[in-house]
Amino acid sequence: MKILVLHGPNLNLLGAREPGVYGADSLGEIEGRITRLAAELDVEVEFYQSNSEGALVDRVQAALGHCDGVVINPAAYTHTSIALRDALLATALPFVEVHLSNVHAREPFRRESLLADVALGTVCGFGAASYELGLRGLVAYLSRIH
Ligand code: DQA
Repeated sequence: MKILVLHGPNLNLLGAREPGVYGADSLGEIEGRITRLAAELDVEVEFYQSNSEGALVDRVQAALGHCDGVVINPAAYTHTSIALRDALLATALPFVEVHLSNVHAREPFRRESLLADVALGTVCGFGAASYELGLRGLVAYLSRIH
């Protein structure tokens, strides 16, 4: 089983970026945790981060036929991107939306997600563990349907 883990804009700056909101771990450290969990769950993971909406759309499209599902932190594109929503719908890849912060406890515009209603589920507010919980949920789902 292969899972694509996608990170949206500004997540390359994790560790230095608003650590009070997003935590002290770098993206590399978070990916290390995800890789260890993937080994435990006996699944493969592939990572991709981009600050560009089009590049993320291209990566979702490229996953078709190669990956079984997607864990995505769309970052700010969560709240704006119809293109990312459409790409995920077009591929019909099961996906989990994750956020480090609790988006519901922040500015009102962060409460709206253009992906949440077509996601398998959403995990937010647990810092780096949101990714791990999202991966566990996705793998449990895929194991049931495969
Ligand atoms: C985020 C929440 C988004 O609102 C924000 O734009 C981000 C990160 C999170 O992981 O908490 O860049 O997705």
